[in-house]
Amino acid sequence: MVILFIICCLFAGVQSLLNITVAGKQNGDITLQCRIPEPVPNGIIVRWYSAKDSWLTSGTRVYKHRNHMSVQKPAPNEWNLHIKNLAQSFADVYTCHTDTNVTVSIISLVIESEPKFEDGLTTGKYYTVTEGGYAVMKCVVSGKPEPIIEWFRGNESYPLKVYGSQLKIPGVQRYAADLYICKAKNKYGADKRSINMTVAFEPEVDVMSPVVYAKQGEAAVLSCVVQGSPLVDVYWTDNDDKRISTSWKYLINEVPAGNGIPVKFINLIFRPAIITIHNYGKYTCNAKSYESHVQKAVELKRPEDKPADGTFTYN
Ligand SMILES: *[C@@H]1O[C@H](CO)[C@@H](O)[C@H](O)[C@H]1NC(C)=O
Ligand SMILES: *[C@@H]1O[C@H](CO)[C@@H](O)[C@H](O)[C@H]1NC(C)=O
Ligand SMILES: *[C@@H]1O[C@H](CO)[C@@H](O)[C@H](O)[C@H]1NC(C)=O
Ligand SMILES: *[C@@H]1O[C@H](CO)[C@@H](O)[C@H](O)[C@H]1NC(C)=O
Repeated sequence: MVILFIICCLFAGVQSLLNITVAGKQNGDITLQCRIPEPVPNGIIVRWYSAKDSWLTSGTRVYKHRNHMSVQKPAPNEWNLHIKNLAQSFADVYTCHTDTNVTVSIISLVIESEPKFEDGLTTGKYYTVTEGGYAVMKCVVSGKPEPIIEWFRGNESYPLKVYGSQLKIPGVQRYAADLYICKAKNKYGADKRSINMTVAFEPEVDVMSPVVYAKQGEAAVLSCVVQGSPLVDVYWTDNDDKRISTSWKYLINEVPAGNGIPVKFINLIFRPAIITIHNYGKYTCNAKSYESHVQKAVELKRPEDKPADGTFTYN
C-alpha cells in the first residue's frame, strides 16, 4: 500500500505529463512518446488508449491496427507507440497510462498532407463564359496545413495577385480569354491546374477597305478581320455567292492573331495577271458561328472608276 502510494505520487508530479499535439505526414510514420520517470516500478503495465479505438496496447502487445502499430522500447522506461503508413483516420487523441491509472502522455495526432485537388469541385481544363458574363473558376484543394492557392494568367511568370479557391471576373471581355493557372502550396509540396477560358461572343466582320481598285492583270489584296468565338467558318465568296478557295487564281491567306486572341485575318489575294473585266464586282467576307452568319462586302473596281476628286467613300 505504501509502495503504491509512492508510485502514485511520483507519477502525479505534473512535470512528467506529456500533453502535446504532434503532426504526422500522411503515409509517413510517427512515434508517440510514453516515458515513465525512473526508476521503473517492477511489474508495471503500460497501455495506450485512443479516443476512437479504446485500448490499443498493453505492454508490448498490440490489440488493434497491428499492420500499423507497434510498441517500441528504446529504453526500459519507454513504451513508445510507433504508427506507420499514417492514414487520415489515425487523427485521434492517444493517451498512455499505467495500470496504476497514471496518465503519462496525452498526444493529439493530426495528419498532415500535401495539397490535393478535389477534381469534382475544381473547374475542368476548359471553361467557357459568354462575353459580359461573370466568370468564376474554382480550384478546390485539400491538404494540411491549409494550402495557399495562387492564380496566374498565361504562365507562372504572370501572377494575378489573387489568392484563394476562386478566380472571379465580372463583366468578362473577349480579350480575357486565356490560360489561367491555380497553384496550391503548403510545406509538403505544390500542385497546379490549368484552365483554358474561352469567352464566347457572336462574330464580327470588318474589311480594311470597302473598295479596292486594281487594273486588269494587276494583283490585288482584299483584307478582312473577323472576331468571334467560336468561329465555325470564315471564308470569302464571289459575286455569285460561291465560296472561293485557293487556286491558280486566288490565294486565301488566313492568319490567326495568336495567343488565344479570338481575331483572325483572312485575305483574298488575286494572283498577278488574272484580273480581267469579268472579275470586277462584289466580294464578300463571311463569318459563321453556330447561331449567326455575318458578312461584309468589298467592291473590286477599275482604277478608271475612282471618283474624279480622288476622295474615297467608305460605306
Ligand atoms: C492537455 O492540453 C490540452 C490543450 O492544451 C488541455 O485542454 C488539457 O486540459 C490538458 N490536459 C491535461 C490533463 O493537462
Ligand atoms: C483505474 O480507474 C478505473 C476507472 O477510472 C477504475 O475502475 C480502476 O479501479 C482504477 N484502477 C486503479 C488501480 O486505481
Ligand atoms: C511565360 O510566357 C512568356 C511569354 O509568353 C515567356 O517568355 C516565358 O518564358 C514563360 N515563362 C515560363 C516559366 O514558362
Ligand atoms: C484554349 O483552347 C482553345 C480552343 O480549344 C485553343 O484554340 C487554344 O489554343 C487554347 N489555349 C491554350 C493557351 O491552350
